[in-house]
Amino acid sequence: MSVIRSIVAGTGAYLPEKILTNAEMAKIVDTSDEWILERTGISQRHIAAEGETTSDLGFKASVAALQAAGLAADDLDLIVMATTTPDDTFPAAATHIQRRLGMTRGAAFDVQAVCSGFIYALNVADNFIKVGQAKNVLVVGAETMSRLLDWTDRTTCVLFGDGAGAVVLRAGEGQGTPADRGVLSSHLYSDGRLRDLLYVDGGPSTTQTTGHLRMAGKEVFKHAVTNISAAIMAALDANGLTADDVDWFVPHQANRRILEATAKKIGLRPESIVMTVGRHGNTSAASIPLALHEAVADGRVKRGDLVLLEAMGGGFTWGSSLIRW
Ligand code: UT7
Repeated sequence: MSVIRSIVAGTGAYLPEKILTNAEMAKIVDTSDEWILERTGISQRHIAAEGETTSDLGFKASVAALQAAGLAADDLDLIVMATTTPDDTFPAAATHIQRRLGMTRGAAFDVQAVCSGFIYALNVADNFIKVGQAKNVLVVGAETMSRLLDWTDRTTCVLFGDGAGAVVLRAGEGQGTPADRGVLSSHLYSDGRLRDLLYVDGGPSTTQTTGHLRMAGKEVFKHAVTNISAAIMAALDANGLTADDVDWFVPHQANRRILEATAKKIGLRPESIVMTVGRHGNTSAASIPLALHEAVADGRVKRGDLVLLEAMGGGFTWGSSLIRW
């Protein structure tokens, strides 16, 4: 049976120039390199320059992804952008990228699922392709999380960073089996009852301010491994695959301990984990495409490989996706 598949045609990424090390962080709040490294695996994070916006980062990642895919902006039918830190409350950051790419056709919009945003955006894009509404789609994950942080709160400000990643999806054909190239399936979940464990204490219709990120870290941690593991099992089961079939595990980069505990629970090989949290921190919706691009660019992810993505974030939202490269 012939089916439409969304094949990854190119990836791109961009990190702001400025690096903030743990030692520098210890001058801002009462923390230490030892504490941050031991509890999270993070050594440094990139921070956007003054005036550098989320769409600035996303635009640079998008240009790189289009170049890798060999496509021009007007070949795109759609831009789906995952971000929690848009330049403006409206319009969507995706439309800034559309304008700057010089794309004068199609549509562009944002998806808001915080750290799970890239999985959500990828699923939306995949569905547009599967129903035949789009052929070439740019999926962007970009964030300036530094702008949402309370820089006096050591329990959150040490964890996050800024950055952007992008992938171009192209409609292709498959046989409806896990051997097909492209997105095999995505699995999305949310539970609004857990809002108070991870949220921003502001917004246009409440405080008329942007607000600051608040997190009950220990509680989030407990839910993370359970939810992420369930989402991974859903993806493997839906495709009749097992942990042994996974070549590369490219998770949302929140905390090294969460990634290692999840891999152990599922039985994923430790060497299959693509880990960037040490150098990037938690870049929310940008973390998966950033890690994915790194593993593609350095030759780890090769054609035919099975790539497993997962994320969890505020909402709660969580999800997984399996891609045959
Ligand atoms: O991407 C969205 C999803 N987010 C996540 O997945 C994050 C999940 N949570 C985590 O990654 C971890 O819970 C944290 C890294 C946030 C915290 O690690 P933890 O091992 O759960 O530490 P804790 O919150 O239990 O804090 C232990 C101690 C506390 O002191 P007391 O009460 O034991 O005296 C904190 O006050 O560490 C203290 N602490 C710090 N000390 C130095 C908290 N933050 C810091 C800090 N530097 N930055």
